[in-house]
Amino acid sequence: AEPTTFETIDFSLVSSLYKPRNRFSHKGTFGHALIIGGSFGKIGAVVLAATACARTGCGLTTTYMPSCGYTIMQTALPEAMALVDSEDRLISHIPTIDLSTFSAIGLGPGLGTAPATQHAVAALLQSISKPLVVDADGLNCLSLNKELLNQLPSYSILTPHPKEFDRLFGESPNEVERIQKAVQNAQALQVIIILKGHHTLIALPNGRAYFNMTGNAGMAKGGSGDVLTGIVTSLLAQSYSPETAALLGVHLHGAAGDHNAQNLTQETMIASDLIDSLSFAFRYLQ
Ligand code: APR
Ligand code: MG
Repeated sequence: AEPTTFETIDFSLVSSLYKPRNRFSHKGTFGHALIIGGSFGKIGAVVLAATACARTGCGLTTTYMPSCGYTIMQTALPEAMALVDSEDRLISHIPTIDLSTFSAIGLGPGLGTAPATQHAVAALLQSISKPLVVDADGLNCLSLNKELLNQLPSYSILTPHPKEFDRLFGESPNEVERIQKAVQNAQALQVIIILKGHHTLIALPNGRAYFNMTGNAGMAKGGSGDVLTGIVTSLLAQSYSPETAALLGVHLHGAAGDHNAQNLTQETMIASDLIDSLSFAFRYLQ
């Protein structure tokens, strides 16, 4: 195999990837995203992902959650539509009919890994053919049944932090070997792997790999990853290619974090502030 060359995501790359909105567009132009996640006590993860999704420009955002999430979501984010499971505290069955109406799916924030939820994830993967974004407990469900990795539609986007990555692909003795493993698996599975960290790695199905240069330790707080899931799902829903959604999304997420570090300090910034600062991250691109 050819040695991997690692590139960095620089400003000229992201500004060439960004597409300004056409003045004659309507909400249908920008797609309809579905965020699937949540379990009792972790509905906030879905709120963060859905809010980030709506703030990243897609036309419509719908969430699918356990029914305990209904009032929380409708209150926190009136812009989103809320579909709910028959179970109150966990997702037990994701209806697979009509999923084609969504232009992108983000799966995993706050999802939990209850057996019924694992089954629902397996059934979902069996019934869809469009690439989707898989994060957090969506990834952990794949780790608990590794066969499912081969059922991912090609160009799906996986967003593991190092522990989630190791659960999926085995332990690595060091960061360098974990990075190599990410590049290999992205090619072997024909998926995009976003290995999150200080310099997040984006490994593409064609063997190319990029390091992101935005972001800071103020983002090392619960919920930051859920925000990234919403951003990337929103870009995918807007018919950015999966590669572009990953590269642009990771850059914007870190740029929002850098804005917060400047204005709020790394200590006091929290995940919701990343969403509030997405406007500054987009402004730099325009
Ligand atoms: N420098 C730059 N970026 C950072 C840094 C840092 N030092 N620390 C964290 N980040 C960024 C990462 O790159 C990533 O995009 O913040 C985000 C953190 O995402 P996650 O690790 O998924 O964290 P979080 O949102 O807290 O996850 C919450 O979901 O994935 C599960 O097991 C996880 O229980 C946890 C929950
Ligand atoms: Mg996470």
